[in-house]
Amino acid sequence: MTDFAATKALFQMPDGVIYLDGNSLGPLPKAAPARMDAAMRDEWGELLITGWNKAGWMAQPAKLGDRIARLIGAETGHVVLGDTLSIKVYQALASALEMVPDRRVILSDSGNFPSDLYMAEGLIKTLGKGHELRVVAPEEVEVNITDEVAVLMITEVDYRTGRLHDMARLTRKAHEVGAITVWDLAHTAGATAVDVSGAGADFAVGCTYKYLNGGPGAPAFIYVAPRHADAARPALSGWLGHEAPFAFEASYRAGPGIERMRVGTPPVLAMAALESALDIWDMTTMDAVRARSTQLTELFIDRVEAACPMLELASPRDPAMRGSQVSFRFADGYAAIQALIARGVIGDFRAPDIMRFGFTPLYLDHADVEAAAAIIAEVMQKRLWDAPEYKTRARVT
Ligand SMILES: Cc1ncc(COP(=O)(O)O)c(C=O)c1O
Repeated sequence: MTDFAATKALFQMPDGVIYLDGNSLGPLPKAAPARMDAAMRDEWGELLITGWNKAGWMAQPAKLGDRIARLIGAETGHVVLGDTLSIKVYQALASALEMVPDRRVILSDSGNFPSDLYMAEGLIKTLGKGHELRVVAPEEVEVNITDEVAVLMITEVDYRTGRLHDMARLTRKAHEVGAITVWDLAHTAGATAVDVSGAGADFAVGCTYKYLNGGPGAPAFIYVAPRHADAARPALSGWLGHEAPFAFEASYRAGPGIERMRVGTPPVLAMAALESALDIWDMTTMDAVRARSTQLTELFIDRVEAACPMLELASPRDPAMRGSQVSFRFADGYAAIQALIARGVIGDFRAPDIMRFGFTPLYLDHADVEAAAAIIAEVMQKRLWDAPEYKTRARVT
């Protein structure tokens, strides 16, 4: 049994805020500043360059990778941290495409995050081999998995609607036709109970700044299935993925297993903050988090729909079909979200009309959900969003 009151007490939350945006950026673990301070003063400050060995900086990407592996159902020793998620998408896709050299189609869906599609477009141009990025509607992915497809590249949870793909089913179908899968777990890791190993995923990537609470700019992770780990060729052949980085050889030789997906110097300070977040994750299991997240999203939908007929549910109604977020469509959604933020309920807006709310049991409880729903009801019923100050768009929405 997870003590969610105990995990909640380990996060800093400003007074008067109900934070429903952990699906974009998780809050600060209270232990992180001291951990960062120690990484700076005791490690960087005192150990200087010897910190790479004495403080274990060089081993951190794989060590923290193992702690994330537990949360996504990956085998120990097959997840490594580094770079940003966009980079990890590129790496995974490039390696995957090479494994199916006689095919040219990358299949994705319109629910994918744009950066994944942009990275695929860039890679296609760089390769210059005539690959095609085929983007279909989310519900049409399965029927489009044909023997033309080289790689199925899918984000499991739709960033707008929260719609959850069936990873095991789509992976099975992809393998039946000889395709390789790349799963983006940005809205999955720390949000739903996923089993990349059981599903047979070939590659999986994700970020650590959303549900995992690693902080802004925290490093991404990549998983390569054990059966591919020593065969996948890393497209970004940086020195820290080399078999012997400190031999400083003139030519690249890929390192063993997942180590080859490392590129360059790891973000040591960012990983110190992430470590504090993972200490909290060690207090629970994804099954416990998922069960409670379902309770919270069900309660939220129930309360908001009862009070706000002008909001249209954009997320699947069946909790088994959605991640850990709830979205509503509303034409003036941007202004509505700004009015909510002004009243302490932080969600976010995704164009053209999505009001998005993330649910994170580590620091949100039923009382928070009831309180947030009451504020949303007031803002919507009294049209409090209909004021000029809520209608000017900021750079980040
Ligand atoms: C599904 C998904 N993929 C990729 C990205 C891009 O990640 P990054 O900015 O870390 O490269 C995001 C960012 O939110 C995302 O949600």
